[in-house]
Amino acid sequence: MAIFSDTEQHIKLAAQMLHAGKLVAFPTETVYGLGANACEDAAVAAIFAAKNRPSFNPLISHFKSLEAVQQILDLNREAVRLAKHYWPGPLTLVVNRPAGCPISLLASAGQSSVAIRVPAHPTALKLLQQCDFPVVAPSANPSGRISPSHAQHVLDNFSGQVEMILDGGWCETGLESTVLDCRDDARIRLLRPGPISVEMLEAELGIQTMLPDGDQTDKEQPVVSPGQLESHYAPNASVRLNAEQPDDDEAYLSFNSPESPYPHHFSLSANGDLTEAAANLFKMLHAADACGKAVIAVAPIPDIGIGAAINDRLRRAAAPRT
Ligand code: TXA
Ligand code: MG
Repeated sequence: MAIFSDTEQHIKLAAQMLHAGKLVAFPTETVYGLGANACEDAAVAAIFAAKNRPSFNPLISHFKSLEAVQQILDLNREAVRLAKHYWPGPLTLVVNRPAGCPISLLASAGQSSVAIRVPAHPTALKLLQQCDFPVVAPSANPSGRISPSHAQHVLDNFSGQVEMILDGGWCETGLESTVLDCRDDARIRLLRPGPISVEMLEAELGIQTMLPDGDQTDKEQPVVSPGQLESHYAPNASVRLNAEQPDDDEAYLSFNSPESPYPHHFSLSANGDLTEAAANLFKMLHAADACGKAVIAVAPIPDIGIGAAINDRLRRAAAPRT
C-alpha cells in the first residue's frame, strides 16, 4: 500500500481498484474516507474488518450527484431540499431503504435506512464519477480512534489492508459531515453535529432540527445512530477539557490565545476562528498525541456554529475508554 498523488491517472486506477472489490482511501472535504463498492458485500465486509468496526454501526454511501441518488432511492421533499442546498458538501442524509435497494445490507447494519452524501472534494467527485456504483466510506481510522485529515494519518493507521491512498493534502473542513435523519419530513433529527450547523439549517432553510431522543412529544422509539458511541476519536493520551492553561507536562491545544509560553503547545486558532479550529482539530490531536504526554489539555471552545461539532468530538475524545 502506498500514497499516490491525486492525478487523473491515479484516480482512474483507484476507480479500477474499487471495481475489483478492493479498498481505496481518498480525500473528502471533511476527512479521508476508506472506500469500497457499496453494492458488493465482500468489499463492505472488508471495511468493517480493516477498521475493526462493530457490525451494528452503519456506513455512509457516497454518490457523484443527487440524480445518481434518485436513480436508486426515493427522497422526500425535505431531503431533496436539503440535498439541493448543501450538496456537494458536508451533509449526510439518513433516508428510508426501499425494497430491492442495491446497497449492501451490511452498510445499513440491520437498520431499514441508508445514509447518503455527495462530497465536495474534487478528487472524491472525480473518483465517484468513474464508478457506476455508490462508494461506502467511513472515516479512514481504526474504530474509536482520531479521524484522519491527511493521507499520512491513513498510512499510519492501515498497513496492508488498503490497496491505495489518494493524496489530496489536508482536508479543508477537517470535521466529519453533519448527519441528519430526514425520514420524517416534519421531524428532521440531528444525529451528528458537523460543519452544517443547526444555526445554518435554521437561517438558510428554516429547518429546526430535533435531537435524536429528547424533544419530541410523541412516544416513538428514539432514533439510533450507533456511530455516536460515547468514546470515540481517542488519542493514546487522555484528554482534559476546558483547560484555561496546561499543567506541567501536559500537551496543550489552545484557542483564541496569541503566542504561548507553553511547551508542546498547538494553537487551534490564535484569533478565535472556529472554522480554522475545526480544520485543525484532528491534525493537532494527532500531533499532540505524538508528543507522548499522558494528558492533552484543551482550551474551552464556544459551543456555537461549528463549535458544537468541535465540542462533540472533544467530549468523545475525553470520554472514558470502552
Ligand atoms: O464526513 C463524513 O461523513 C466522512 C467522510 C469520509 O465522508 N465519513 C464518516 O463516516 O464520517 P463514519 O462511518 O466515520 O461515520 C458515519 C456516521 C456514524 O455515526 C454512523 O453511525 C452514522 O453516520 N450512520 C451511518 N448510516 C446510518 C444510518 N443508516 N442511520 C443512522 N446513522 C447512520
Ligand atoms: Mg468515523
